[in-house]
Amino acid sequence: MKQKWWQTAVIYQIYPRSFQDSNGDGIGDLRGIINRLDYLQELGITAIWLSPVYQSPNDDNGYDISDYQAIMPEFGTMEDMDELIEQAGQRDIKIIMDLVVNHTSDEHKWFIESRKSKDNPYRDYYIWRDPLNNDVPNSLRSAFSGSAWEYDAESNQYYLHLFSKKQPDLNWENEKVRQEVWDMMNFWLEKGVGGFRMDVIDLVGKIPDLGVTGNGPKLHDYLQEMNRETFGKYDVLTVGETWGATPEIAKLYSDPKRNELSMVFQFEHIGLDQQEGKEKWDLKPLDVNELKQVLSKWQVSLGNEGWNSLFWNNHDCPRIVSRWGNDSAYRVESAKMFAILLHLMKGTPYIYQGEEIGMTNYPVTDINEVQDIESINMYHERFESGYKHEEIIESINAKGRDNSRTPMQWDDSEQAGFTSGIPWLHVNPNHREVNVTASLADPNSIFYCYKQLIQLRKANPILVWGDYELVDTPAHVFMYLRHYQGQTWAIVANFGPEKATLNMPNFGQSQNIIISNYGRESVDFANLLLNPYEAFAVEV
Ligand code: GLC
Ligand code: CA
Repeated sequence: MKQKWWQTAVIYQIYPRSFQDSNGDGIGDLRGIINRLDYLQELGITAIWLSPVYQSPNDDNGYDISDYQAIMPEFGTMEDMDELIEQAGQRDIKIIMDLVVNHTSDEHKWFIESRKSKDNPYRDYYIWRDPLNNDVPNSLRSAFSGSAWEYDAESNQYYLHLFSKKQPDLNWENEKVRQEVWDMMNFWLEKGVGGFRMDVIDLVGKIPDLGVTGNGPKLHDYLQEMNRETFGKYDVLTVGETWGATPEIAKLYSDPKRNELSMVFQFEHIGLDQQEGKEKWDLKPLDVNELKQVLSKWQVSLGNEGWNSLFWNNHDCPRIVSRWGNDSAYRVESAKMFAILLHLMKGTPYIYQGEEIGMTNYPVTDINEVQDIESINMYHERFESGYKHEEIIESINAKGRDNSRTPMQWDDSEQAGFTSGIPWLHVNPNHREVNVTASLADPNSIFYCYKQLIQLRKANPILVWGDYELVDTPAHVFMYLRHYQGQTWAIVANFGPEKATLNMPNFGQSQNIIISNYGRESVDFANLLLNPYEAFAVEV
C-alpha cells in the first residue's frame, strides 16, 4: 500500500450543536469551533470530522438536510464555514464533512417538488409506491420506530423513509439524483475540504420492494461512480458508515484497487452488549472475550486489501467509559485504558469530542429530558406495547444517543463554559471536576494520555504498519502484539476493577515502557500484577 496521510492521522469528531456556543443562544456554532482550534492543535489531531452543519429543520439534529450548499443559520454563515476551513488549515487540520445523502429533509426543495404530484419532474428523486390492500407497501421498518412508509393522501401513495418521516430516502437509481449529489460534493471539494464521512452509505443501493436495505446490488457501482466523478481526483479521506459490514464487505469498500472509499466504520464490536437478533435497547452484559475476538478478527482480516477505522464513541453511541468502563472510582484509569487499547491498533483512530477528557453519560429519569428523536419514538412505541417506564428509561440511559450529546465541558463554571445562555441539552453536573481547564492543568490527565498516543502514531511506523497478533490471556485481560521489521510491542489492558496476575515468562522483562496509565516503569511478564483497569505498552 502506498502511504496516505490518513493512515497516520487521528481524527476528532465534532458534534457542532454541543461543542462551543459563541453567542449565548445555547447552541454550539462554527464561530465556537474556530475559537477552539488552538485546543485541538494542542491535542495534536490531523482532521476534524464535522457532524452536519448544513441547513436543516433539525428533526434529527442536522441529519435531515434541506440545503446541502447552505449553512444552518443557528451555526453561522458560509463565510464562517470558509473561515473554519482556512483557520483549521493554518493549523494543519483538515475538515471532513458529513455527507448525508441516503435521504434529505422533507423540507428540501427536491422533496417539496416531489410530493406536489405524480408527474412532477422531481417525483422520481424519492421512492414512492402505491398502497398494498389499502395499507403500507410492505413491512419495512424505520430505524426510528414504526413503518418506513408514510402515506401522502394527495397522491394516494407512500414514500419511503428509513429514518424519521421528515427524512425521505433519495432514489439512487435515478441518474439525476446521483448527478446532483456529485455536483454538491464537488462544490465542497473545491472549497478544500479534507474528505467525507458518509452517513449510512450502505443503504443507498437498497431495493425496497424486496425488503433489501443494506448492501444492495448496485451499492459498489454507485461508490465507484462517486469516486470517479468527485473525490477520486483529490487526496482526501473518505469513511463510510456501514452498520452491517463484515471484514469481507469492508474490503469491497476499502481495497485501494477498487477505487471506492478509504475505510469504513464497522459496528460489530459496538453491538456486543445487545441481545442477538433484537434491538439495540435490548441489553446484555459485555463479554470481554467476545470483544477480543471481534476486534482481533478485524485487525487481521483486512490485510492489504482494506483499512480499519478505530473508535469507541460517536454521536450515536453512549460514552465508552460509562458503557464498558467505570465512570466513578476508576474513571481516569478506565478512560485511559480504552484509549491505549484502541490507539495502538492498526487503522485510523477517531476521538469523539469530550472523550479526551473522560466525559461520561448523564442519566435521565424522565422522557421529557430527552431530545433525541430515536429515543423519544422508541419510548412511545415500547410504552404503548406494554413495557414499563423504568425499563425503557434504563435502556435509554444505557444506549440513548443524548448520552454523548451533552455539551462539551470546558471549565467548572455554571454551564461548563459551553454557553453564557441556557444550553439546548443539559450540561452534565460533573463538569465541576471533569473539564478541559482541569485536564490541561494536570500532567496526568486523560487529555495528555491522548496527546501522547497521537504523537506515538505519528512517530512510529510500527503502529501504522505493524502486524497484529492477539495473545491468549485470562478472559478479562486483553493483550496483543504489534510486529514490524524485527521489532515487537506488547499492549496489555486489564479490563476490570479487580487486580489481575499474568504469568508469561516467554515475554521476559523490559524497561522499555512506551505508555502506561499507572506510571509503570518496568514489567516482568513472569510475574505481572495488573492494577484495576491498568493498561500499558512495552517493547519486548
Ligand atoms: C447515521 C447518523 C445518525 C443519523 C442517521 C440518519 O446513523 O450517524 O446520527 O440519525 O444516520 O441520518
Ligand atoms: Ca450559538
